Amino acid sequence: MVDFAALRDDFPILKQEVNGKPLCYLDSAASSQKPQMVLDALTKAYAETYANVHRGLHHLSEASTDAYEAVRQKVAGLINASSSDEVIFTSGATMSLNLIAHCWGGANLQEGDEILISIADHHANIIPWQMIAQRTGAKIIACPMGADGDFDKKALADLISDKTKIISLPHVSNVLGTVFPVKEIAKMAHEVGAIFVVDGCQGVVHMPVDVQDIDCDFYVFSGHKLYGPSGIGVCWGKAEILADMPPFLGGGDMIDDVEITHATYAEPPARFEAGTPPIAECIGLGAAIDYVQQIGMAEIHAHEQDLIRYGMQRLSEVEGLTFIGTAAGKSGVISFTLDDVHPHDISTLIDHDGVAIRAGHHCAQPLMKSLGLSSTARASVGLYNTPADFDVLVEALHKVNRIFKA
Ligand code: ALA
Repeated sequence: MVDFAALRDDFPILKQEVNGKPLCYLDSAASSQKPQMVLDALTKAYAETYANVHRGLHHLSEASTDAYEAVRQKVAGLINASSSDEVIFTSGATMSLNLIAHCWGGANLQEGDEILISIADHHANIIPWQMIAQRTGAKIIACPMGADGDFDKKALADLISDKTKIISLPHVSNVLGTVFPVKEIAKMAHEVGAIFVVDGCQGVVHMPVDVQDIDCDFYVFSGHKLYGPSGIGVCWGKAEILADMPPFLGGGDMIDDVEITHATYAEPPARFEAGTPPIAECIGLGAAIDYVQQIGMAEIHAHEQDLIRYGMQRLSEVEGLTFIGTAAGKSGVISFTLDDVHPHDISTLIDHDGVAIRAGHHCAQPLMKSLGLSSTARASVGLYNTPADFDVLVEALHKVNRIFKA
């Protein structure tokens, strides 16, 4: 049995006070805090092994390359990729999705083809598709969500046709918390010959992920939400798809042979990693993966599901509070509004009590518009949260109500 409350001690930042109150951090969906193990790995990378990777034949360059490449194996282990060559390092999920849209979309989309996303997608899973649709003449179609913010399988099935070339959806909605049945959707995509891209930013941080079992074609995520540094992310793709994909950015390390007017390119994953990568950040991500795997993703999932259930139950006591997204089995986030109090005011006021949440459109404006809202307040959890964090949040919200009703 993991003592999650004790794990808080691993996160130095959580020990501080904000506005004279103990920090109550409920904004991990935006970015999670980092355990000492990750901070130590970053320091060690710079203090002991730092040099450029894949370029030098000297001791430090080899040590740095070994440490960097070892993380590819760790990522492959985390998501059960069949080979670490399927793991491309990027700056984050946004770059990963731009890479897929540009490289796969640019090579395969034609006028009249359809890209199927959902109304609940993050802008990072909308804008890259808009850009490639404008270039190729493909069309973007957004699947609606069910009344409770749940996944509407029939709505998706009705939109899939032989024109569908790409289905790209979140594993977990960053606003609604809805868990998309990705294994089922992969099957639906493949039945019409489409590829299935999963934005796993809010998925891989909360639950075990097995890309071979899901049978998706791409799975992307950001290191900074997985207790790792910012500036490092992952684009996992099936080997046979990556093999045929043209490069994204051009530069050093992604080539095989270069002439002045033309070049041949390296095999994946190097083909997609031009330039000096974020070396220390990548090593920090490796430490974050070691950290969550020592605890166990299944244990983290169970703990966070208990937290979400407890949080929903406690928050339902707050007068005037409306949940945005109540799908069964929801994960990671609880979005809400509070009568006439603007979410920005909620966030600013509860910050006085040391409580950090996110308020705004959460980079999901189409979803907000479909709900008739401009913004919501959102509490989100990480492995270090405990039920006591929701007790503090609920007390702070009662206070907001008292201020607005005075
Ligand atoms: N995508 C991040 C969030 O949902 C920034 O807050």
